[in-house]
This record gives sequence, structure tokens and C-alpha cells, in this order.
Amino acid sequence: MDNILNTKSDIELMEPDRQFHFINLCKKLVLERKAELGRNLTYCVVTFGCQMNAHDSEKLKGILEEIGYEEVEDENADFIIYNTCTVRENANLKLYGHLGHLKNLKAKNPEMIVCLCGCMMQEPQVIENIRKKYRFVDIVFGTHNIYKLAELIFKYKTGGKTIIEVLEKNDAIVEALPQKRKYSFKSGINIMFGCNNFCTYCIVPYVRGREKSRKPEEIIAEAEALARAGVKEIMLLGQNVNSYDGGISFPELLKRVCKVDGIKRIRFMTSHPKDLSDELIEVMASEEKVCKHLHLPVQSGSTAILNKMNRRYTKESYLELVNKIKKAMPDISLTTDIIVGFPGETEEDFEDTLDIVKKVGYDQAYTFIYSKRTGTPAATMENQVPDDVIKERFPKLLKAVNENNHIDRYTGQVKEVLVEEINGQDTSLVSGRTEESLTVHFKGEADLIGQFVNVRLDECKGFYFMGTRV
Ligand code: SAH
Ligand code: SF4
Ligand code: F3S
Repeated sequence: MDNILNTKSDIELMEPDRQFHFINLCKKLVLERKAELGRNLTYCVVTFGCQMNAHDSEKLKGILEEIGYEEVEDENADFIIYNTCTVRENANLKLYGHLGHLKNLKAKNPEMIVCLCGCMMQEPQVIENIRKKYRFVDIVFGTHNIYKLAELIFKYKTGGKTIIEVLEKNDAIVEALPQKRKYSFKSGINIMFGCNNFCTYCIVPYVRGREKSRKPEEIIAEAEALARAGVKEIMLLGQNVNSYDGGISFPELLKRVCKVDGIKRIRFMTSHPKDLSDELIEVMASEEKVCKHLHLPVQSGSTAILNKMNRRYTKESYLELVNKIKKAMPDISLTTDIIVGFPGETEEDFEDTLDIVKKVGYDQAYTFIYSKRTGTPAATMENQVPDDVIKERFPKLLKAVNENNHIDRYTGQVKEVLVEEINGQDTSLVSGRTEESLTVHFKGEADLIGQFVNVRLDECKGFYFMGTRV
């Protein structure tokens, strides 16, 4: 069978055509198998981690759908993929726990193919562990070759042996593969991959590789295709979109995306404070389609800690930036990420974090307990903060975030809400988001899903609103 993969013509078929070739081959195999079994073959993709992984999972699903698998929510499927995250140290343990469960499922369903991918697979010790202790895993690949799913499935189905293909790096960007979106009306678009920042606590640059930006033409073509397919809101994705360099800058790219007809809202994630330019603030303020919401991770309010984190801004420069942003866009909604208990964080440093939370007044903050991530410089730093100190600080931070958000300033306002789904708890309600990314629940039917609706925000319930359609 290997001959099929290695013939000259196969290699000469360039991507993504080469992958479409494997998709077609897999399609035939799946069709045959379905006929033999007299039933459909199902798949389930389980996603951990950030927006990047969520978006990657949509591509994996797109390929599996093309091949002829049918999506189910249940992990007891014929093809199961875990798209892993490794940003926190205990993620590995969690994955191994899940794998024990999969082993039992697979014992009952001989048809089941178990596949692992994503950031955790970029770590050699994880691969070694899987090889030794989790031999029932069938296909493993990393962050640089997700586009090859069909090829790896074909190799597995025709060879029967475990396939492990993890690349240390890959500079190629493969465009135009299928995608199955979670929502028909909104979508992420990768504008860049990888990260060059090496914040000292963070594993992402090691598992996602160096920054590579997609070409603006490819990004615009994707936005146009999505708009034609009915997408109204897009989120431009990158670990640090401000360092996008596809021949044009990020603010220029943003302006071009704004010109795409049919796209009504544009968001982006994530923005590193050290690179946020005046030009970006101008474009955000002047382009109506760009949502007045900015996720601006601060991580800590202490300049000494920020320095040790290698964030390359200070408490003062961050606050100055926030003031500039608020001056240009008084209605902006700011959200952030904060880490508690970075090595060497003193009581005074922590007070600085509480102070910055107070001064900025974030609408939402994602708060993390520092995780000593093996392989990062911070893991070997002295003065790791004891657990009991972190446990004391963490609730204080949550309290500060809650007390200083000004979300109820929106109460009584009428906002345009993009309706996303029927409310999970009360099916007489629908749920959606405002431009600021505030969640609003209000009375409505399924036909509103994917529509923009004007809603009065009647009551603020902490981080979400109850509203009425007007
Ligand atoms: N590129 C984005 C963040 C990606 S990781 C940025 O720079 O903002 C998402 C968040 O996870 C980070 O903002 C950080 O707050 C958190 N995080 C990353 N590594 C961590 C660690 N070792 N311990 C705790 N939180 C961590
Ligand atoms: Fe991690 Fe820093 Fe890169 Fe964000 S910018 S992904 S926190 S190294
Ligand atoms: Fe996790 Fe990878 Fe994202 S480590 S946070 S899934 S880039």
C-alpha cells in the first residue's frame, strides 16, 4: 500500500490537492465499510484549550464530514479525536484520565479509531508515554500538520498500524481545506500561526512554533467566501494579532476585511499590549464593523512581575494605553487575562494587580492560578509562591474583578444582539451577544438564530443580561 502514497504523481500533487486526493480515497473506504456494517460511521471531536484549537477542530470536522463520517456528541463514536491543550501542567494528567475511559469504549467497539492531536502532542515525553502505555491509540499528530488528517487516516486504514506524525516545525500554510463551523453565522479566521513572544510562563511558543502570517489576499478570500455562505461575524485569530505581518500591518488588514460585503461584525483575538499601535486604535474607532470590544491580557499589575514574565510593558504604560483607548472609544468594553501567583509575586505585587483591576474596570477577566509549566523558564525560577498564599489571593482577585466591572452601565440600553442559540436552561429564551460580547438572554424562537435583533438590556446579572426584544 505504501506504493500508493509514494508514487511520483502523488508527491507532485501539491497541497491542498494532495489532501483532496486522500479525502477521496478515504471516502471510498468509508463507503465500503458502511456497506459492510449496514450502518453509518460516526465521529466526535473533543476540543480543549483556546480559540485556535476550537478553530482547528472545525477544520478537522470539515475533513471528517467530507470523508463521510457523521458527527455525534457522544465520545462512543467510530472515530474519536482529542484536540489537546497543554497550557497548564495538569492538562497531561487529565488527558491520561480521559484515555482510560476511551480504552474501555474501544474494547466494546472494535470499529473505533482513537486519534490524538493538538498542542500536547508537540511534547516528546507525551509521545513516548503514548507509545509505551497507551498502545490502543491509533493516530497521533501535532499542531503543524492538522491539514493532513485524511492522509493519516488513509495510511492507518490501509496499513493497520499506529500512525504517529509530529513535526517539529512546518513553515507551509495549507489553504482552502474544508471546514465545518459550529455556527453558520459566525466564524474564526486564522490570520497568523505561532508566537514569538516567549512570555516566561507560557508553553505556546514551544508547541505552536514561530509566527507565520497568512497572506492578506488569502484572508480576504476566506472572509468573502464565508460572507457568501451567510457568515455575518468573524473573529480574526492569532496569539498576538498586533504583530501580524503579511506584507501589510494588522490595522491595514482590518480595514480591508471591513470592506467585505455581508460581514457585519469583526472581532480579533488576542492583542498583546506591547504592540498595540495608535493606528489600530484609530481603525477600531473609525470602522463601524469593528466591535468595540478589546481583549487586552494584562497578566499582572506589577511592573516587577511583568518584567519577569517578559511581557515588555509596565503597569504605567499599560494604564496609559488603556486611557488612550478609552479616550478614542469611550464605550469600549475591555476584558483581560490575569495570572495569580507567578514566581516571586509578593503581597505588594499582588496589590498592584488589584489596583490595575480597579483602575481599568474590566467587563470580564479570565483569572488563572499560575501553573508551573515544565519546559518554560518560569518553572525553574526561585520563589515559587506557595499554594496556600495563592488560595488566599485568588478569591480577592475575583472579588476585585466583580466589584470593579461596570457592566451595569449598559442596563436600560438597547443593543443589537446576534442571536446564537436557544437557551440551554429555559427553552422559551434565546441567547446572543452584543457588539461588546455581552451575553443576553431574551424571549424568542429558534427562527431568530443567526439574526441581528434589537434588545433592551433590562437586568444585569453579573456577567450577563436578561433583556426584551424591542
Ligand atoms: N496569546 C495570548 C494568550 C494565550 S494563552 C496572550 O498573550 O494574551 C491564554 C492565557 O493563559 C494567557 O493569557 C495566560 O493568562 C494563561 N496562561 C498561559 N500560561 C499559563 C501558566 N503557565 N499558568 C497560568 N496561566 C497561564
Ligand atoms: Fe503565550 Fe505570551 Fe505568546 Fe501569549 S504572547 S501565547 S502568553 S508566549
Ligand atoms: Fe492550549 Fe495550544 Fe491554545 S496550549 S491555550 S490550545 S495554543
